[in-house]
Amino acid sequence: MRTLIKGGQVVTAVDDYVADVLIDGETIVAIAHDIQVDADKMVDAKGQYVLPGGIDPHVHMRMPFAGTETIDNFTSGTAAATRGGTTTVIDFPLQPRGQGLKETLDKWHGLLANDEPMIDVGFHMIVTDLSDGKLKEVPGLVDEGVTSFKLFMAYRNSLMADDETIFEAMCAAGENGMLTMMHAENGGVIDVLVRRALAAGKTGPKYHESTRPAKAEAEAVHSALAIAEIAESPVYIVHLSAEESLEHVANARKAGQPAYAETCPQYLFIDSSVYDLPDFEAAKYVFTPPARAKHHQDALWRGIAADDLAVVSTDHCPFCFADQKRMGIDDFSKIPNGGPGVESRLQLVHDGGVRTGRISLNRMVDILSTTPAKLFGLFPRKGTIAVGSDADIVIFDPSRKETLTVETQVSKVDYSSYEGREVTGSPTLVLSRGEVVCENGAVVGKAGRGRFIKRAQHLGTLPGTPITNSIRIS
Ligand code: URP
Ligand code: ZN
Ligand code: ZN
Repeated sequence: MRTLIKGGQVVTAVDDYVADVLIDGETIVAIAHDIQVDADKMVDAKGQYVLPGGIDPHVHMRMPFAGTETIDNFTSGTAAATRGGTTTVIDFPLQPRGQGLKETLDKWHGLLANDEPMIDVGFHMIVTDLSDGKLKEVPGLVDEGVTSFKLFMAYRNSLMADDETIFEAMCAAGENGMLTMMHAENGGVIDVLVRRALAAGKTGPKYHESTRPAKAEAEAVHSALAIAEIAESPVYIVHLSAEESLEHVANARKAGQPAYAETCPQYLFIDSSVYDLPDFEAAKYVFTPPARAKHHQDALWRGIAADDLAVVSTDHCPFCFADQKRMGIDDFSKIPNGGPGVESRLQLVHDGGVRTGRISLNRMVDILSTTPAKLFGLFPRKGTIAVGSDADIVIFDPSRKETLTVETQVSKVDYSSYEGREVTGSPTLVLSRGEVVCENGAVVGKAGRGRFIKRAQHLGTLPGTPITNSIRIS
């Protein structure tokens, strides 16, 4: 099957030019001006951007949390991703304490196979416990294409790893070419603040914010950077939300430390005023870290522009308002933490970042696709538009307006964090390895066509398909 995309504005992290793009099977095979070949499908992309498919390196499908599970499985979650121009997601097998890493990975492979994803999926490993020789399993993970850990400095008695485990995991990551992703919040401080709030009768969802202060995040970011430096290992701070945390990352980077960080749309577009919403509505915004005061947003945008924030991921972690969030109706600490977002990232960042002049179009592609591909061992197979790369492509109309709403959402979750927000710029066609998976907002991809993708080591390359047959393009 050959697809020819005609006359679009091809935008990568570094290029911006008008060209035709020819796809043969799953692969981009030619990029040139005015390609004249027979194709099974012609796409007129005049006036539209031709972007590399988004890579969202932080999503949670079927994540067990607080006695429930995120509402999207790999089928609905990956379908939702296509609507937002995302063609690869990286999810998180979660090691229950005492269980082996390989055993955990095998379980998640079972879930993935059962669910039939629509787009390609990679895995990071959430490590909670490295006792009893589990460290020896680390090289095996790399062989399986799982080349990053996630560690938690919060959620004692469930996800939280102690400093010893964090240090050992980071050392092993460094030795094995892996990247450690860190959920940086001081769990001990937060636990005390939560206990005190509840004891004082402060049980509503608004207290999620005041019990997880920015300083508790910044302190943990500082600590994570220091431990990574001692371990001589690269570190990636996930869902960074606060100006003071960003300062620590910026300082570490200035000093030459291999330190990276991501933020998420919820920290760029939602501020802490949502916690004043009446009638338990604030529970929709109980994600962690919480939404911050508005001034943090400007700092985060500056951090993106300056490359101190390397990636915007979504931390898609959807729990339904009607039943799951209500588990914490009498106690905010029992509200499952997380919010949806996998299908609105590109539109929000384009509308609120590019159209406002905060970042360039190239930078948008960089933070949503190219840099995640490079950091997480997917480049250049994914993350760019180049001959030999997977034909993961988004045709994006920069002037097409859409209103974000639960009514048109693909995710199974029952609310949108951005209900009623109008955005300008929308994907019109999304291709995953050459197949149309979403067209004008309608998901048309087949469940089960997505594959598990074995990733290369941190900053390593994953070669695309070599183009062996030269083709006549004119
Ligand atoms: O609230 C959040 N972010 N839930 C997902 C788990 C995590 O910390 O990433
Ligand atoms: Zn986290
Ligand atoms: Zn997360």
